[in-house]
Amino acid sequence: MSAFSKFSQTAGFAASLYAQRAGTQYLAHVRREPMAMLMTRKGREDPYAVYRRMRERGTLTLTARGNWSTTSHRVCNAVLRDRRFGVVQDEQLDLSFLGMNAPDHTRLRRLAQPAFSPKTLPAFRTRIESTVGELLDRASTDGRFDVVSGFAAPLPISVITELLGIPDADSGEFAEHGAVIGGALDGIQSLRQAARFAASDAKLHALFEKLFELRRREPADDLISRLIAAEGDQVKPGELEPMVFLLLIAGFETTVNVIGNGVLALLNNPDQWEALRADPERLAPKAVEEALRYDPPVQATSRIALEDLELEGHQIKRGQWVVTLLGAAGRDPEVYDHPDHFAIDRQDPADHLAFSSGAHYCVGQPLARMELTIAMQLLAERMPQLKIAGPVHRKPGSTIRGLRHLPVSA
Ligand code: HEM
Repeated sequence: MSAFSKFSQTAGFAASLYAQRAGTQYLAHVRREPMAMLMTRKGREDPYAVYRRMRERGTLTLTARGNWSTTSHRVCNAVLRDRRFGVVQDEQLDLSFLGMNAPDHTRLRRLAQPAFSPKTLPAFRTRIESTVGELLDRASTDGRFDVVSGFAAPLPISVITELLGIPDADSGEFAEHGAVIGGALDGIQSLRQAARFAASDAKLHALFEKLFELRRREPADDLISRLIAAEGDQVKPGELEPMVFLLLIAGFETTVNVIGNGVLALLNNPDQWEALRADPERLAPKAVEEALRYDPPVQATSRIALEDLELEGHQIKRGQWVVTLLGAAGRDPEVYDHPDHFAIDRQDPADHLAFSSGAHYCVGQPLARMELTIAMQLLAERMPQLKIAGPVHRKPGSTIRGLRHLPVSA
């Protein structure tokens, strides 16, 4: 049983969940505290309005809970690259090297990285193109479909299960339970969700055990087999499963949301959709970068100060957190002209921070960029008449930002 399951089954969990919620409501509605406002329905709908207010208060501001937050692209980037800051492992969910600092972080990240290198990736292009093609074939038979469930969600699942070497027969189950856990990355919102999480956590654990046993017996040319070969020497006992788990779910709730958020932005800005469909090959990579800047799926991450330090004229104490608002960094007027304007042919002076920065810079980004570019290009080529055809629904959660439904007609 995982640490999370034990914790979530206690009555204390229910009490702390509801106490935390009540606290957030108080801070948001009575104290008008921006970090809490981001967690309200209105804040989730339009976090960018909250970021604008936060920006007026300075580049680094103290939160009601005694930590710091920043909306500045420059400060986010500096904190994420600064070795005086680090991460700590989540108590409820072991996210492998995402929750580790050097040297353990470096050791494990180095083992995963070759799977996403420019040498390995071209092998995935054909798979991605054929998956995107098949999904669009299926979607176009009805003329109407949901961009999220019919297109965006199945794509990263198919790609990552192939990369990890999950047998086709099991990929449906991995996808189902991985999605439940991925959906909880933003925090557990209800007891029902906690129960579903615990059940999927246990199922996923059993599936992993079976798969690791298979690959110990019959190694194949995939990432899991390579990690198993490194066990003992570079992968310590207990490190394999969290690492494979991280690789499985990291691409689930991110790539899907870039496609959803990006297609929504394109269809809400018909001149931009028109530009893309006129020149999909040249503009698809740019549309992807603009979607990542304009409405990124990971709105925030945070770093803990490992020592007392000074930042932007403030004293930061060891143990205090700095929340780096990546979604706000993408709208920073010091970096982007007309930051609230969605324009796919931008020439900006700096890269967005949607993939973070520094030591934890997304290890899967070359794969994600390739998937997203192919998805946007083929969508524009094959469905030039795409239009929104029903109510758009957003997923709950404020750290991970994405759509639940985006009904369209082709
Ligand atoms: C557009 C899609 C994606 C976005 C926006 C995204 C975003 C991010 C961000 C923001 C982080 C760093 C979090 C932090 O600094 O605390 C991260 C880390 C990571 N991502 Fe991604 N990601 C995407 C796709 C993927 C894919 C497809 C994979 C793998 C299959 C992946 C694997 C990882 C891993 C393993 C880490 C941890 C890196 C480390 O700690 O060194 N990501 N991602």
